[in-house]
Amino acid sequence: MKNIESKLIESRQYKPDIEFSKKSNLNPSLLKKLNSLYKNNPDEFWSSLAKKEIQWIKGFKSICTGDAPFYEWFKEGKLNISENCLDRHINKNKKAIIHIAENNQKKIISYDELYILVNNFSYALKQIGLKKGDRVVIYMPTIPESIIAMQSCARLGLIHSVVFAGFSSESLKNRINDCGAKVVITVDSFMRNGKIINSKAIVDEALINTSCPSINKCLIYKNLGTEINLNDRDLWWHEILPSKRKIVKPEAMSSEDLLFILYTSGSTGKPKGIIHSTAGYLLNCIITNKWVFDLKDNDIFWCTADIGWITGHSYVVYGPLATGATILIYDGAPTFPKPDRFWDIIEKNKVTIFYTAPTAIRTLMKLGEDLPEKYDLSSLRLLGTVGEPINPKAWIWYQLKIGNNRCPIVDTWWQTETGANMIAPIPGITHTTPGTCTQPLPGIEIGIVDEDGNDINEVNQGGNLVIKKPWPSMLRGIWGDKKRYLDTYWKKYNNNFYITGDTARKDAYGNIWIMGRSDDVVNISGHRLGTMEIESAIVSHEYVAEAAVVSYKHEIKGEAIHAFVTLKNNFINYNSVEFSGELKAWVKKKIGSIAKPERISFSDSLPKTRSGKIMRRLLRNIARGEDVTGDTSTLENESILDQLKNIL
Ligand code: PRX
Repeated sequence: MKNIESKLIESRQYKPDIEFSKKSNLNPSLLKKLNSLYKNNPDEFWSSLAKKEIQWIKGFKSICTGDAPFYEWFKEGKLNISENCLDRHINKNKKAIIHIAENNQKKIISYDELYILVNNFSYALKQIGLKKGDRVVIYMPTIPESIIAMQSCARLGLIHSVVFAGFSSESLKNRINDCGAKVVITVDSFMRNGKIINSKAIVDEALINTSCPSINKCLIYKNLGTEINLNDRDLWWHEILPSKRKIVKPEAMSSEDLLFILYTSGSTGKPKGIIHSTAGYLLNCIITNKWVFDLKDNDIFWCTADIGWITGHSYVVYGPLATGATILIYDGAPTFPKPDRFWDIIEKNKVTIFYTAPTAIRTLMKLGEDLPEKYDLSSLRLLGTVGEPINPKAWIWYQLKIGNNRCPIVDTWWQTETGANMIAPIPGITHTTPGTCTQPLPGIEIGIVDEDGNDINEVNQGGNLVIKKPWPSMLRGIWGDKKRYLDTYWKKYNNNFYITGDTARKDAYGNIWIMGRSDDVVNISGHRLGTMEIESAIVSHEYVAEAAVVSYKHEIKGEAIHAFVTLKNNFINYNSVEFSGELKAWVKKKIGSIAKPERISFSDSLPKTRSGKIMRRLLRNIARGEDVTGDTSTLENESILDQLKNIL
């Protein structure tokens, strides 16, 4: 692990605000009790939480069973997540969703209304023949109807897979085919940055001819009312709804029945369909919303994540609704029409808890450092970040300008695979320091280990971040690929620890600092992308012979992509700025704009080792403007070094 060095030492400590913990869900004595219960009796710890937080149709008989790493939680229990999110909050005259569209239209939906909308749509899904276990792909922006679609799937026991509405038709097609979805739900179109995105047309492209044979219906919610092509398989959302209100009994799901599949990038070209089950996922969602976000039912919680990502699943759709809070969703760009949009929404809607990504904070800080001062942000009481390390400068700005030095900041570390926050401060209790996600939550056993799986005990010495004990919301596998599940997450340490793929260090206070990834995954604006996935997209262009993608530090995005490309002999003259632009657009079309390389360098060949492996370390050095380290004697052609440095 010698090569994992820590260069960033930040020591500013922020004391917790004792006043905050006087009113919060977790106070120091409760936290102490929880930790000691976990230490003395982990089964009792999880079992008491599961009984308290979840409404069960039938009680569970065991806590965690199964052989590593195929753990099962709360077996024989029966429950329904939609019932937990909706039925138990009706008749209380409570707002569930405040929706703000990019064009400023505002819609408020109460729990009672949401309950009816979900029941009606569940009825419609049932009428078109969907049955428990069927897969449904949801390709929609973050509007109430996408939440209705997810909740309806959960009500009927359909497994949903939400595909981020910014993904290309090809990415959509691959995901539909991987999970064998029967139905895709989309919108006619939506607005982003003042422009219309025609989702239905993208779906048509994905489904063209027989490219997605499993799909037999496409449901379209009329969002903007733009014109669309209607095919035989297409049905309008509003036309399949029952004419009279229908109540659909929630399906009694077993604890381990699958709730959803969510695709995330790995170190091969093919995204992984991460699968999550019902009871365990719900439990960690609820407790982290209560502990980390101190969520209470009078809060207005705005998590800015799109429903296409895990954060949108756990901290927009499932966790907060199961807790009975009011969620705010904004379906638009943070900078539209001006970079004060977030602050304006917070002021107007009296948001109390705000959760966003460091990239958004950096962008808004850069475009309008003093803009928040024009707004009354005094309704806020807690701030959160997620998705990537937050640099101290952005953290301090967030704390000062948005939180007015009053609001605790929770920097939450977790992954699509973990389902919910794993490492995060408890507001009002944990000391914070800009840049660290601090300490594991009760019930979560984190380790930093060397290549042999031994604990690294030296302060600030980097190692592999692992989770040592199973937890309820852990992934249950990769859809259709048991081997990849074992190889990626368990094999290296003989099924003993869950391998996060991140590297981390622990400081003298026991705080955990995420240092980066140990695999070929890059983190662009808080979104994970596999370098292989981007390389495959580039190489699929007919002019390209070979490509290697690495990341470098980027002021706003955290990391950005630098692609090194070799062209086929007969296209060698295309190493131009124009073609670089064309290639960037090509990647956007193949995957989506988040994967677009920021920089491209063309060279006659790529630097390789004697065994033919691309020298990625050297490419990283170049992309990051560092001295080229290591042996370059194997380079066939020294002159390519200059070519590699030439950015187009
Ligand atoms: O590298 C870590 C980074 O994001 C990865 C997980 O990405 P994804 O599955 O897309 O989920 C993102 C939202 C949960 C992690 O392996 N990451 C996430 N949160 C943090 C972070 N890195 C540093 N600090 C965080 N708070």
